[in-house]
Amino acid sequence: MIKLDPKIVPLKMKRDKLLVLNQIILPARTEWIECTDEIQTAHSIKIMHVRGAPAIGVAAAYGFYLGVRKLINNGKKPTMAALQKIKNILDASRPTAVNLFWATEKMIQRAAQMIESGIDASHFLLQMYNEAAEIHEDDAQRCMNMSVIGADYIEKLLKKKTYKILTHCNAGALATGGIGTALGLIRVLHDRGKVEMVYADETRPYLQGARLTAYELEREKIPATLIVDSMAAVMMQKKMIDFIIVGSDRISNNGDVANKIGTYGLSVLAKAHKIPFFVIAPRSTFDKNIKSGDSIPIEERSESEVLECQGHRHAAKVKALNYSFDVTPAENVTAIFFEDKVGV
Ligand code: MRU
Repeated sequence: MIKLDPKIVPLKMKRDKLLVLNQIILPARTEWIECTDEIQTAHSIKIMHVRGAPAIGVAAAYGFYLGVRKLINNGKKPTMAALQKIKNILDASRPTAVNLFWATEKMIQRAAQMIESGIDASHFLLQMYNEAAEIHEDDAQRCMNMSVIGADYIEKLLKKKTYKILTHCNAGALATGGIGTALGLIRVLHDRGKVEMVYADETRPYLQGARLTAYELEREKIPATLIVDSMAAVMMQKKMIDFIIVGSDRISNNGDVANKIGTYGLSVLAKAHKIPFFVIAPRSTFDKNIKSGDSIPIEERSESEVLECQGHRHAAKVKALNYSFDVTPAENVTAIFFEDKVGV
């Protein structure tokens, strides 16, 4: 089994503070934001200091722990009502990535078990910390497993010496607790000498591709070329792409996939040009309670993200519409790689 470490992490715990890498200003500057409770953690998720579905889940788990810690330090009893309040604050931060709700649900269920057992406050807190840390470590392992499963599958399906790969948004170490999902798979293929070029969509408006994916690929010394989102079509037309790989924020029961805005368009283009379109995600992204993509809540973010770039307005005086995600129907997806198997 190969061993690949994430060379960059989106968050870490230090002396009962959650330190979140401020991804808004990467790669220009490296700055860590301190979160000491659930309110600050929810804020950091909402304004996207920390982003990417699995990383949001991990941050929310630590945020839950910090909320319980604050409660106990203020001499209050961790009742189910108080814990639900902490969960609600975190859950309200972003709506699409189901990993957030998955993580806070795990935390509150663990808390409920402990309340039932009559455990004392300090042990209760320790258990809460351990649960959050486990969610974190577990995600790292899932990233590794799905990356290998996906890389093996692609090597079997596409018999080529090296691949030209297109990816969208950032599904790397910065978006997870480990080496990433789409970028994790790319790292495994690169380790096997199979990557000719990774084309990264810049991913308007937050520029996850230009700022974060390009940064990670540069640090990993993986051949990388940045393209504007609208160039993907001509790249496929000119046979410059062997396959597309993206992450996901929520996969419905029938295999529809919510991911960063622009993903659906790529899937349609891939189908038209007969290019394999792969999705890779941990099981914590799979929402068995949602029948199809139609019911996935899609986040609409501030219009200022579209009208302005890095704080400077470039648009004329019009309104902007800013859906942060779209849904790719299952029929457009060649295969989904999970940590345990290929397919839903
Ligand atoms: O708005 P973001 O940056 O949180 O959106 C991130 C994505 O769309 C990713 O592709 C997805 O969360 C998968 S990350 C492994």
